[in-house]
Amino acid sequence: MKIVLIGFMGSGKTSVSHVLAKKLSIQCIEIDEFILKASGRTSTNEIFDIDGEEKFRELEIETAKKLRNIQNVIISTGGGIVMNKINLNYLNHGGNIVFLNASFEIIRKRLSGDNSRPLFRDLKKAKKLFNFRLPLYKEYSNMKIGTDNLTIDQVVAKLVNKLKQI
Ligand code: S3P
Repeated sequence: MKIVLIGFMGSGKTSVSHVLAKKLSIQCIEIDEFILKASGRTSTNEIFDIDGEEKFRELEIETAKKLRNIQNVIISTGGGIVMNKINLNYLNHGGNIVFLNASFEIIRKRLSGDNSRPLFRDLKKAKKLFNFRLPLYKEYSNMKIGTDNLTIDQVVAKLVNKLKQI
């Protein structure tokens, strides 16, 4: 079993991956943590500000490649994983790609006051990015879960139900 969670920043990927991993008794992996370790920086903001987004994307692709054969895992991706299709080719090896679909309005509320995301500093740019990526999340996923107004536990329950139907 392999489940890959994709979706925009603030869609709940990390929280869902932790709860789901506990429920299914399998490990979960956060791509951003691998990137951070490989970068030698202390935060994602630092990678973007010092090395640039391009470097971040390179490390993201390297990480996805490293993880291509891993099984029995839940992989939580960064919102920009869909910017390079090759990431999905690597991650899709025998896995389910699940899109956690939250509206921009909900995401904006969730992330207000959170300064950890370099691409959410400017609301207008973030909204543009959201609109650009939405069709990509839809295209690259084989399972979609609307998460607006749902708790993390409710999202996990929905996901588990869908997995049972496969
Ligand atoms: C990014 C999303 C972040 C992180 C980085 C870039 C993006 O992850 O990978 O800041 O391009 O959307 P989250 O989706 O976990 O916030």
